[in-house]
Amino acid sequence: MLTGKKILVGVSGGIAAYKAADLVSRLRKMHTEVHVVMTKSATEFIAPLTLRSLSANPVYVDMFEEPKLWNVEHIALAEKADVVVVAPATANLLAKMAMGLADDFLSTVLLATRAPIFVAPAMNHAMYHHPATQRNLKLLQERGIHLIGPDSGFQACGSEGDGRMSQPEEILQTLVRFFVGSSQLKGKKALVTAGGTQEPLDPVRFLGNRSSGRMGYAVAQALQEAGAETVLVSAPTDLPTPEGVTRVSVHTALEMCDEVLSRFSEMDVVVKAAAVADYRPAVQAEQKIKKDGSNRTIELVPNPDILAELGRKKTSQVLIGFAAETENLLANAQEKMLRKNVNLLVANDVTQQGAGFGSPTNIVSFLFPDGRKIDFPQMSKLEVARHLVTEIAHLLGVETKE
Ligand code: PMT
Repeated sequence: MLTGKKILVGVSGGIAAYKAADLVSRLRKMHTEVHVVMTKSATEFIAPLTLRSLSANPVYVDMFEEPKLWNVEHIALAEKADVVVVAPATANLLAKMAMGLADDFLSTVLLATRAPIFVAPAMNHAMYHHPATQRNLKLLQERGIHLIGPDSGFQACGSEGDGRMSQPEEILQTLVRFFVGSSQLKGKKALVTAGGTQEPLDPVRFLGNRSSGRMGYAVAQALQEAGAETVLVSAPTDLPTPEGVTRVSVHTALEMCDEVLSRFSEMDVVVKAAAVADYRPAVQAEQKIKKDGSNRTIELVPNPDILAELGRKKTSQVLIGFAAETENLLANAQEKMLRKNVNLLVANDVTQQGAGFGSPTNIVSFLFPDGRKIDFPQMSKLEVARHLVTEIAHLLGVETKE
């Protein structure tokens, strides 16, 4: 699917640089022409010889070493690439890209190229969440640079969190989707809900839940990648909006209900991954509630069940629900599937390690009203989302091309 493509792989100096060898090897196996540019620091982590051998091409590091070809090499490489992939992209390199600096071979190529650029960030979680890095990533995305990952999990520094470089297979899949494109759901309109609603008690406090929004954001990304025009109705999260997706921000279940219901009739698919509060405080205090040492009781009133309402209203739409369970997973999920009249229900036992709220991965089962059930092992939420898109395509009667 990538045969003949000229791919320029940029490698910057982080421990994940060793994964670049796997990426280059996989790209070559897909019959691409691979050229590698490394930063000086990257050569401390992996030898240029390794990447030269795997790419079967010279590796570029130094602007001023004896040229390997007659032409101005950084410009020639920048111009001939069909795509540039920087993996790993360190916080430092991302900052240089955001600033437009060009003080070595790789940063110069990145400034000179007009080819699409993909970056796979890799860094310690504190560096990843630093406002400067987040601002740089946002800026790069606004300029049309594609972000791959990062993943979460164990980090070389010994801590756990966001910032691990995406696996080479994931990077490859992203490139394949970019070049081959997916028109699977082209012409279809999709709406996804994500995150946990916040039900205000007073101007500074709310009742909420532990949803990070990751699952819903992954579903929105996968639907968009499959060609669907995708709207994401999102409760508050820290996540960047997936490229090409239209985000509508809400806080409460009532706001989410309004946004979803007003769009429902024009949708082909609705996926309700949000954790919606079943109840809200009966009264929202106008001023901050003062403590007086006495016990307090909060009266709660029920929120609308948005999914059940969609289930009642649906005509031709494919309706997907999620069930977050802590006990009797299958029995409870099956009951929800029938009661809310959905075409597919994604059940997750949120007490399992590696599943549910906040986790970068999930462990799910897809349940169908005809009694079918598909169990999936632990996988990234994006992978779950891509499996879901395959099922959505079947439910819409769209031919899938694997
Ligand atoms: O956001 P993450 O940190 O990635 O976590 C993912 C997740 C655990 C939130 C997600 O995988 C998930 O399970 N989402 C559904 C959470 C939930 O509210 O489940 P529920 O079993 O309470 O609700 C069942 C379904 O009805 C859901 O599709 C929910 O969106 C919907 N619902 C529930 C209540 C309500 N008032 N209105 C609704 O539409």
